[in-house]
Amino acid sequence: MAAGEHLSGRPAGTTAADVEAYLARHRQKSLLRFITCGSVDDGKSTLIGRLLYDTKLIFEDQLAALEADSRQIGTQGQDIDFALLVDGLAAEREQGITIDVAYRFFATEKRKFIVADTPGHEQYTRNMVTGASTADLAVILVDARKGVLTQTRRHSYLVHLIGIRHVVLAVNKMDLVDYDRARYEAIVADYDAFARSIGIDTFTALPVSGLRGDNITGPSANMPWYTGAGLLGHLEAVDIDVDAAQRRPLRLPVQWVNRPNSEFRGFSGLIATGTVHPGDAVRVLPTGRATTVTRIVTADGEPELAVAGQSVTLCFADEIDCSRGDVIVQADEPPQVADQFEATIVWMAEEEMLPGRPYWLKLATQTVTATVHAPKHKVNVNTLERLAAKTLDLNAIGVATLSTDRPLVFEPYQHDRALGGFILVDKLSHATVGAGMLHFSLRRSQNVHWQALDVSREKHAELKHQQPAVLWFTGLSGAGKSTIANLVEKKLVSLNRHTFLLDGDNVRHGLNKDLGFTDADRVENIRRVGEVARLMTDAGLIVLTAFISPFRAERAMVRQMMAPGEFIEIFVDTPLAQAEARDVKGLYRKARAGELRNFTGIDSPYEAPEDPEIRIDTTRMSPEQAADLIVARLLSD
Ligand code: ADX
Repeated sequence: MAAGEHLSGRPAGTTAADVEAYLARHRQKSLLRFITCGSVDDGKSTLIGRLLYDTKLIFEDQLAALEADSRQIGTQGQDIDFALLVDGLAAEREQGITIDVAYRFFATEKRKFIVADTPGHEQYTRNMVTGASTADLAVILVDARKGVLTQTRRHSYLVHLIGIRHVVLAVNKMDLVDYDRARYEAIVADYDAFARSIGIDTFTALPVSGLRGDNITGPSANMPWYTGAGLLGHLEAVDIDVDAAQRRPLRLPVQWVNRPNSEFRGFSGLIATGTVHPGDAVRVLPTGRATTVTRIVTADGEPELAVAGQSVTLCFADEIDCSRGDVIVQADEPPQVADQFEATIVWMAEEEMLPGRPYWLKLATQTVTATVHAPKHKVNVNTLERLAAKTLDLNAIGVATLSTDRPLVFEPYQHDRALGGFILVDKLSHATVGAGMLHFSLRRSQNVHWQALDVSREKHAELKHQQPAVLWFTGLSGAGKSTIANLVEKKLVSLNRHTFLLDGDNVRHGLNKDLGFTDADRVENIRRVGEVARLMTDAGLIVLTAFISPFRAERAMVRQMMAPGEFIEIFVDTPLAQAEARDVKGLYRKARAGELRNFTGIDSPYEAPEDPEIRIDTTRMSPEQAADLIVARLLSD
């Protein structure tokens, strides 16, 4: 998953400094990060409470929070009432339910732990994904009375996708099934069949009761038939390969450049994988320029070696370009660079994914614009069936290809979570809407090149004695876009300009006849029209387009496609009431009667331009006057 910087939520009151202080106190011990997941009411809070309570090492921050609750609590976690502790944790998690993941810290003599506690509700898959993104191990809770549920399967599937190698199946609430061995074994067998089908080869199963403390810190007298380790014993002993990241080649996503203009020019970031020494040959990607590391600077001095997981600043022998988003890599083992990929995407937003819409894609420290194509399939997590899908809705998991506007330095996710995991962010709301894992780059992104053409766009324009432009009319159906655009075109042609008018109703009879009026289809409609308009400006034409084009995101995307200054957005501003009163095509009447769905302005949104180049107020201007104004404006530029 992408760097924790974007994903790791923190509950109120726990700061990065708290985490650091905690880690400092237990520096010599190995750290296990784990996540608990399962369904609602499977007893997560109780189980975590039990771990904290029994280890008697509650992080002071939580103590303080509990004390603030003005209840009677002892010091240092020694005499806390278990029920109060669990209530406190549950309440905190409930409050956190809409925001994020709660991280809790505890330690034993053998190991220190960070547990990501995530709400179990289906709509909070995003929290689970967030918590899992940095975890080494997942504890999947099942209520012994209910057995394996859809949510158990969904979370197991995600845990496996995210690449967590250690899975613990905790069959909880054993006290409520009279510690029945047969019940436990039936659940384990059921889970085993599912786990294998999704590629989880091994997992450890435990019968526990968080409430009673059975098999949490020690063996349970109630279940003599179970002879394995208790949960805590297993968490202490599980063999996590802490050095695996170090054995991979060096990857250091650059977070910032130190004092770019001074003598000391250093490049800072967290080493994702590998090791680095002064004298090592490195490259800066995507440019590929090579140099040698001269110094490694850290908060504690200048070590001769730095390894994965450390934050460092590197200095180079040569003055080469390197900025935020670049990746410093081992010179003889660089990762790939590409701009088209196949990926698994987990959709995390209420509004569905819109293929063709540009989103921000953040991968390690790189931020690019990405468009996702229509999914190849989505996965039914219960049956593992691959279903045909046009889009992904909340919590859907699917496979799709995507393109980025600039090359990305990446690794397949299965080899490197840091350079293979990404998030998608809505450009207007800045909400994280999806998370994904890159599989591979598409070969076509390497094999399809730009062909250099001898007759340039400048030559085409010169022959026509004009400056190409796109006059992009937007507004409600019936606002007058086509009428005004048609008049503008006539006037331009009479002035010997070479033009072409693309009109919504006409284009939808040909090029776009496969598209309807869902949000996704409108996005694709505008994307295609944008590409066609761009080609026409390359041919030297003045292009007029008359489409409702209801979404800001796609109008912004088309603006980006055009050469600077060539996109002129014209907002044909007609109040809905007036467009509806005119109702030239009788469509508003049909929409109001419920005979036409997704009609713009009725049950489908129109996002008015915030800063158009030209705004036409049709209540104060005739189409003729509007056309004159637009022509005058175009020719004066
Ligand atoms: S856009 O939203 O994708 O930009 P476009 O401009 O191509 O729409 O098409 C709009 C035209 O299609 C309208 O002028 C109207 O004649 C017709 N139309 C049919 N159904 C709808 C609908 N549900 N919403 C809007 N326009 C519709």
